[in-house]
Amino acid sequence: MNKHLYVWHNGKPVEAIIRNYSERDYEGLIEAQRLSFPPPFPEELLWNKEQLGEHVGRFREGALCAEVDGNIVGSMTGLIVDIGEYGHDHSWEAVTDNGYIRNHRPDGNTLYVVDICVIPAYRKTGIGKWLMQSMYETVVQMRLERLLGGGRMPGYQAKSQEATPQQYVEKVLAGEWTDPVISFLLRCGRVPVGIAKNYLEDEESLNHAVIMEWRNPFRTEAAK
Ligand SMILES: CC(C)(COP(=O)(O)OP(=O)(O)OC[C@H]1O[C@@H](n2cnc3c(N)ncnc32)[C@H](O)[C@@H]1OP(=O)(O)O)[C@@H](O)C(=O)NCCC(=O)NCCS
Repeated sequence: MNKHLYVWHNGKPVEAIIRNYSERDYEGLIEAQRLSFPPPFPEELLWNKEQLGEHVGRFREGALCAEVDGNIVGSMTGLIVDIGEYGHDHSWEAVTDNGYIRNHRPDGNTLYVVDICVIPAYRKTGIGKWLMQSMYETVVQMRLERLLGGGRMPGYQAKSQEATPQQYVEKVLAGEWTDPVISFLLRCGRVPVGIAKNYLEDEESLNHAVIMEWRNPFRTEAAK
């Protein structure tokens, strides 16, 4: 994958590149994670070089970054699984091997998203959506059935007295509430298919995630 495009930053077009990451990017990727996931997000969940090495070594097609002016401003990582082995109420740890993806199965049916992030300075410029679009293209290129991933719901903690996780998602789907991650994923064409209760240690989401799917539109029969 290697894409050159423009995104609008501070009202002006700036050149961006979406490409596969490699060893020379590790420092930049870790810094982008640090900026994207500030406390209370647990620091030990940020990438380490060993994990990044596994991503590049096992599934380079699923290791994407966004670069502007020579700096990494975002990244997205996936692996291939057979989703039937996990079901929808899975944990991030189980389905991504704690971010090491040693459970990557080239013969699986689902591209599973390990992580997506964009640094705050470049949010709402379309970079997250371009990363997602690029991963959809990978799904089509590899003739997989779907892309799937757990979306954090960081707005949930503040509403947890008023709503169950299910009701929270319904309010977001009804347009009454907005969630920084779930609303983003909806705008990327992802569709909720379930809620995982103990997905990830994540205070803001009270450890919940919405499992959200994008089906390969060219494989609709196979994906039923
Ligand atoms: C979620 C995240 C990746 C979004 O990246 P981004 O580059 O800002 O998103 P984009 O600019 O591509 O936005 C795409 C669409 O989502 C919408 N969107 C983005 N952030 C949003 C928010 N906080 N609330 C509501 N909608 C949002 C945009 O308005 C845009 O809508 P449009 O396509 O109709 O114009 C980014 O906010 C992030 O890194 N968050 C922290 C890390 C994280 O929690 N990652 C998710 C792990 S599950």
